[in-house]
Amino acid sequence: MTATSADELKRLAAEAAARRVVSGMLVGLGTGSTAIHAVPCLAERLKSGELRDIRGIPTSYQSLMLARQLGIPLIDLDEVDRIDIAIDGADEVAPGLTLIKGAGAAQTREKIIAELADDFSVVVDESKLVDRLGSKMPVPVEVLPFAVGPVTRAIERLGGPPTLRMGVKKAGPVVTDQGNLVIDARFAEIPEPARLERELKMIPGTLENGLFVGLARRAFVASLVEGMPTVRELLRAGKAS
Ligand code: A5P
Repeated sequence: MTATSADELKRLAAEAAARRVVSGMLVGLGTGSTAIHAVPCLAERLKSGELRDIRGIPTSYQSLMLARQLGIPLIDLDEVDRIDIAIDGADEVAPGLTLIKGAGAAQTREKIIAELADDFSVVVDESKLVDRLGSKMPVPVEVLPFAVGPVTRAIERLGGPPTLRMGVKKAGPVVTDQGNLVIDARFAEIPEPARLERELKMIPGTLENGLFVGLARRAFVASLVEGMPTVRELLRAGKAS
């Protein structure tokens, strides 16, 4: 078997989740290089007639633009009060399916959609699995531009050295889809993710942060097993399949 590219593994994970979508479902469309692979898969299933009447709810301009381009019908969030399934990536997946998200600065919309979803399915390659949350990635915090100074100092007091995220191929800071900025907070330890999530949220001027606790129902994890691309499904304890 030839070397499978990292992108191929991402695609396999996203397609495994997209195959769970059935006709009539409302589907949260995630953001990032892994989740985005679900969009063409859904578009193909619609085109072939295998799926009917699904509606997508994008978590970013990235998924909005691709869904439009591929003809997936979309629906506004204010027209729904729940979502059947949301398919999204993650930057870290810790035991219990506790996540860090937001490397693509989309965590605010992603969390709104994950919270509304009956089945929030995470799609990753196995490089995202960690024993300890925060061991590789900082926690992204979306912040109003007006409040960057005080929020930065408050995050420092919580023990996570903060960095204002800067753009690539764009001078100055990253600006989110909502017109805000992102502070990445590097915590050496996150012993209580739910507590830190709340503490960050309580700082005036912050929107959502990238800690996702108790939201993911399952994860599709792609890896090479003896050279063969394989996707395994992890379920959050206490959740039925
Ligand atoms: C977007 O802000 C993120 O939450 C992504 O879902 C996450 O960064 C995973 O992205 P990749 O699949 O590109 O690693």
